[in-house]
Amino acid sequence: MNTALIGLQWGDEGKGKLIDYIADSFDVVCRYQGGANAGHTVIFEDNKISLHLIPSGIFHPDKVCIIGNGTVIDIEQLVRELNELKEIGIGFEDRFYISKRAHIIQPAHFLIEKDIKKEIGTTGKGIGPAYADKMSRGGIRMGDIFNSEYLQKFGISSDFIETLTEFREKYGHFIVNTVELLHSFAKKKKKILFEGAQGVMLDIDFGTYPFVTSSNPTPGGIFTGTGASPFSVSRIIGVTKAYSTRVGKGPFPTEMSDKLQNQIRESGGEYGATTGRPRRCGYLDLVSLKYAVQITGITELALSKIDVLDGLGEVKLATEYKIDGKTIDRFPPEIWKVERAKPIYKSFPGWKNTKGINEYRKLPEEAKEYISYIEDFLGSKISMISTGRKRGDLISV
Ligand code: IMP
Repeated sequence: MNTALIGLQWGDEGKGKLIDYIADSFDVVCRYQGGANAGHTVIFEDNKISLHLIPSGIFHPDKVCIIGNGTVIDIEQLVRELNELKEIGIGFEDRFYISKRAHIIQPAHFLIEKDIKKEIGTTGKGIGPAYADKMSRGGIRMGDIFNSEYLQKFGISSDFIETLTEFREKYGHFIVNTVELLHSFAKKKKKILFEGAQGVMLDIDFGTYPFVTSSNPTPGGIFTGTGASPFSVSRIIGVTKAYSTRVGKGPFPTEMSDKLQNQIRESGGEYGATTGRPRRCGYLDLVSLKYAVQITGITELALSKIDVLDGLGEVKLATEYKIDGKTIDRFPPEIWKVERAKPIYKSFPGWKNTKGINEYRKLPEEAKEYISYIEDFLGSKISMISTGRKRGDLISV
């Protein structure tokens, strides 16, 4: 069954680990949006590796990995990742492909970004300007690097043309028509896993605009970002942490006190995989999650990092907001309303020692109560619970 795994919060939900866990049941893993702003950290044979562009499925030697047309490619970063994989002995020949239609991030995009970076707190990876060029029809795409004459029309510097030429000479065979490739896999009944980057609340259309990224992590992005048929995905796994984090600027109604943020940040390793920035930490926000579940039509939930909450005397879930004296249970479209939102919390007793548990029945009763409440509130079953950093720290429910 073709499946999508997507983040329901502000990114960093721990998708990489789950992709790594479920990848075995698939033949193909495909990314559909974003670029090197994403960062999936995977622990592979005691090596901690952060991939930014290449799908996490690459750690499984028999999986085909595809970067779809909806992404934006930082060529130098891609080369760094390929080299890193080579160093740890992971082969990718004949199983790694990039869409000819994916747009290229150009040196100018990094320069333009400097101002946006300050206002929005972007990752500084040229994402916004690259997508802006795509939409204003001034971009160049991976397939274009096979025609230097065509590239010259875009006023690209000779240095960058050289970078592109080097990439073409070494890795040009990875750049293909991925629409044809995906459909040929579909015809052969190969199972495809679509790997989301970022999360619903960073979606350009549905997130906390303008404090969002420039692509659609929500399911629509799968189809525009790969050319897969809208009827080809029948399972959508929505991933949420057991709490919330956000990196960069923008409203974050359930943000915790500084003291609690520090505690969670340290125990959860809450530092950006791409920029190293400390992540802002907050309680789980069921108002935004309910909205995310509605938009994405998820068929199941995955809950990550429950162990990070171990040892807290009390855990809280935001079930409603109060905005200008009015109680609301819907996530507002207006950013200025989100900025004024004061969460209304439901309190739960804390728990200890969930780290490394891999059977549901072994979880403390208090943790089970928290999990059941989330399931009931969101009307969706939790199928996976991650209880630690290691590959095996996972409960399959
Ligand atoms: P950009 O995607 O670099 O333009 O950044 C826009 C916003 O999205 C900023 O708030 C970033 O911190 C955030 N962002 C982008 N990618 C990620 C991610 O993978 N995880 C968490 N936040 C992200």
